[in-house]
This record gives sequence, C-alpha cells and structure tokens, in this order.
Amino acid sequence: MKEFTTYNSVEDLDSESKYLVHKAKEATVHSYAPYSKFCVGAAVILDDGTVVTGANQENAAYPLCMCAERVVLYACASQHPGKKVIKMAVVAHKKNHKELMPASSCGACRQVMQEFEHRQHKPMEVVMLSPGEKWIKCSSAQVLLPYGFDASSLE
Ligand code: THU
Repeated sequence: MKEFTTYNSVEDLDSESKYLVHKAKEATVHSYAPYSKFCVGAAVILDDGTVVTGANQENAAYPLCMCAERVVLYACASQHPGKKVIKMAVVAHKKNHKELMPASSCGACRQVMQEFEHRQHKPMEVVMLSPGEKWIKCSSAQVLLPYGFDASSLE
C-alpha cells in the first residue's frame, strides 16, 4: 500500500473517508478555542463501525490545550476499550469561518496515534488537508512519525 495518497478534492476520497471528513467538520462545533480561534475536529471509525468524534479543548493555561486527535483517541480507549481505530479524519477552520484550513497533526498527536497502533496491532489511516492544500491519506501513523520513540526504546 502507498504510504501517502493525495487527492485534489475531498470528492475524490473514498466514501468512508468522505463521511469521516463530514463528521470531523460537524465535531468542530464542540471546539473550545477562545485563544487560538482555530477549531479542529477529528472523527474516527472503529473496527465495529462505530464513529467517534472529538474537538480541540483549550485552556487559559496554554500548555494544557488538547488537540482534537488526542481528545478522540482517548475517548475511544475509555469508551470503546478493545476496539481498533481503523481510520481518522482531521479538519480545521478559523472560528466563524466555514472554509477548511490545512491541519497537519502535530508531533504529540502523531506520537499518541503511533502508540495506539502498537497497542492495537493494526495501522490506522489518517486523512487530512495538507499545507499544500491537497487531501492526503496516510496509510498509518507510523509513516507520519518515522524513527519515533516507543516502548522498545525503554527496554
Ligand atoms: N490543534 C489540534 O487540535 N490538532 C492539531 O493537530 C494541531 C493543533 C489545536 C490545538 C489548539 O487548540 C489549536 O489547534 C491551535 O494550535
């Protein structure tokens, strides 16, 4: 499987990815982003077909802000233990604007996605709008974080 596949339009994505992009957009309604005004939504599909969503949650103590990707992954682990995350879509827009902005998952989220992959023994696909303004589908979190830190580093 190709590590990265790019698409000029959201319409060119497979239907499951399109649906997750739609759910991620809906999830931005629950962003709490009074400081950055950058609303991020993430939607995942689990191996039983369940869709779970999350949105970024900020705090006046800035380092405590939590990205949408980690909100949704930790919700999955807590509310759907044992289910595997098959795919995630991430979208972002400026507060009170409709147009989507590129949102490339931060390094901390890539690290957490990678640990999920190790835990579940299965890669998760990640769909996002790249800074080059193309939709990109990554075959796994692993390819988003080469040579990352993991449990084997602690042995
Ligand atoms: N943010 C995410 O939710 N996901 C990312 O991958 C990048 C950044 C959020 C965190 C913060 O609330 C806002 O976007 C600006 O950094």
